[in-house]
Order: sequence, then C-alpha cells, then structure tokens
Amino acid sequence: MTSLFEREARVIMRTYARAPVTFVAGEGSWLVDSDGNRYLDFLTGLAVTSVGHANPSVAAAVAAQMERLVHVSNLYYTEPMVELAEALVQRSGLDRVFFCNDGATANEAAIKLARRHGQKTGGPDRYRIVSLDDSFHGRTLATLAATGQPAKQATFQPLPPGFVQVPPGDIGAMEEVVDDTVAAVMVETTQGEGGVRPLEPDYLVALRRLCDERGALLVVDDVQAGMGRTGTWFSWQQLGFSPDIATTAKALANGLPIGACMAREEVASAFEPGDHATTFGGGPVVCAAALAVIDEIESRDLLANCKERSEQLMAGLADLPGVKDVRGRGLLVAAQLDGEIAGDVARRALLEGRLVVNPVRPDAIRFAPPLSVSAAEVDEALERFASTLA
Ligand SMILES: Cc1ncc(COP(=O)(O)O)c(C=O)c1O
Repeated sequence: MTSLFEREARVIMRTYARAPVTFVAGEGSWLVDSDGNRYLDFLTGLAVTSVGHANPSVAAAVAAQMERLVHVSNLYYTEPMVELAEALVQRSGLDRVFFCNDGATANEAAIKLARRHGQKTGGPDRYRIVSLDDSFHGRTLATLAATGQPAKQATFQPLPPGFVQVPPGDIGAMEEVVDDTVAAVMVETTQGEGGVRPLEPDYLVALRRLCDERGALLVVDDVQAGMGRTGTWFSWQQLGFSPDIATTAKALANGLPIGACMAREEVASAFEPGDHATTFGGGPVVCAAALAVIDEIESRDLLANCKERSEQLMAGLADLPGVKDVRGRGLLVAAQLDGEIAGDVARRALLEGRLVVNPVRPDAIRFAPPLSVSAAEVDEALERFASTLA
C-alpha cells in the first residue's frame, strides 16, 4: 500500500520539508501519531493551540454554532462577531476590530489601514512602512515586503514598493528613516520567527515617542505573541506603551483560522465602507471558538499559569548542559545551543524523545507549550529535552 508520505509527495506543493510523523489526535498538551505513540507538544502548532488540543469547551462551542449557523455574508450582522470584538476591545484597550483569516491577512489589513490613515492625515506621500531586520509578518506580497528576511524575499521580486527595514533595537536607525513619508512603524515586541528575540522595553517606549513626534503610527504584530502567550493578554501590556494598531491571530481560536486587526478609534475611522473586505473573516463558528478560548483563559487563570510555567521552563532550560542561554517572554521561549545543531536536536527530540519543539534558528530551539501546560508536563519536557541533548 502506498504510504501517506508518498501520496503527499505526489499531490502537495513542495513548500514544506515535513518531519516523518502523522498526527491523528491530540488532548491537552499531548499529540498521538498514527502508530499510537504519544508526544508532549511544546510547540502547539507554532503558538496556536494555547488552551490545549481537543479542548472540550472550544469543541462544544464550535459544535453548537455549527448546528445553528455557519456562514452568512459580511453584509449582514451576526452575534458572535460583535461579541468577540467587544471582548478584544475590552482586553486590548483598542477601540475597533477588523476580522480576517490569519496572521498575514491581519497584517495586510494593518498595512492598508496605516496607508489609508497616513494619506488622509499626511497626503499622498505618507504611505511607507518601516519594519525591522529579522522580523516576520507573513507570506503575502505586502507582508513579505515588510518581513526583514532577504532570503525569503529574494525569489519573489519585485515586491510592492514602500517598505524599508532597519536593525532592531537601534533607535538612531529609526530616527533616520521615520520622516513624513512614513505611515507606520511595524514591530513584533518579541521577534518570533527571528529567533524569539525580545525587544527591550526602553527601545519600544522610545519608538512610541518617536512615532508620536513624527506623526507615524505604531503597529504591533502580536500574531504570535498575543492572546496571553507572553503572560498578559497582549504583549505590549507589560512593556509600558500601547500601539495605534495591533494584529493577532494564531491562538485566537485555538487552531481554527482567524485573524484580527485592532486599532484606536481615530485610526480605525480612516477605513470607510468598501475600503477593505473578506468573505470568511469574523464568521460565526471561528468567533464562537475564540469566545470559548477567552473564557477558558480567564476561568482557568491561564495568564497566571503562563507566568509560573514560564519561570519553571526558563530556569530548567538554563540549568541544562548544552544550553548556552535562554530568552523569551511568557511561554514563548528559546534555548540557545552551542553550534548549528538545532535541526538535528529538534528531529531527535521528536522521533526519539517524543517531544515536539522547533529549530527557530540553526542554533536555537523554540518552546511554545500550551498556556494550560502543567508543572509536571514542564518537568517531563525538560527531562526529555535533557536526554535528547545528552
Ligand atoms: C509575528 C508573525 N506575524 C505574522 C505571521 C503570519 O501568520 P500566518 O502564517 O497566519 O499568515 C506569523 C507567522 O508565523 C508571525 O509569527
């Protein structure tokens, strides 16, 4: 019989080098493969399944909504969308939400909103977007143009114009480029795909001040770091500033596709009916799932758990022989290894240790367990990772 791997190789476009494992089920912090082996999931699909696999409350909310109403056009009202927007507004401190389908479309919305606002307030030349080297904002053409990774951009030139990158952490470099042609500066507070690199609060506060002085908007891409991943609902809430626009996606509906672009009232009002649209964004089923996720995080006090398990995980990793350094915020953590061995380490952790982690850099491993992870599961993961390193 032809294996699933062979069938995949015939019919799926070759954009991924997949690990030789087929997952068939999950529960909480655990995944099960097609041979019945159990894996401790410390990646959660890249910071997505934050309230655990097969979460019963999310599953019940989705099933109930599926039976009631799956889709109508965004030309009509639906309750879960409005309720979810109210929940996000209340928790983010921002005023309005545009729902879409994932991180890239949330950032596309942010870029379009920033341009619309820039051109309305500063004239036709205020449209440029400044982002950071080593950033990651998505794979659509505009979000790729904002992504400060030349290797990912090289094969898709020409990219849309109006995007420029500067080194992270260097406020002088920002001062040089942020002029009256810049609509917005866009940053991740912890660069996720760039290697889990937290930006200093002082730098972010100085960036906020610079944007205010120069009339540019500040956009936080909280696609990976939002929805409690760093121990507060949104990453900036522990860093002493707030953005004009913020995006979030990955963990918002615990694995169902959804993205959100949120903004302050004065900025959001730059969009008029017809300026932007989506078929699926804000659909009743994903919004019902996201409402259940928010309820799980609050009723189980998972922000507090995130902080406690973060300390445990980071301290435990720092003690392991072979780990040179540990960085991150909340449960978005990287262990710096000695040499470019992370690919091999992650593969062995998966196939031998049955621990799912990812080589976020050639020399660094990313850990992003569910916010619901237990102390015993963190100990178990540390043990498995230690044996892999050994
Ligand atoms: C910070 C950040 N922004 C945007 C994206 C793109 O999100 P998506 O893959 O859902 O389009 C990602 C994905 O890794 C991300 O980490």
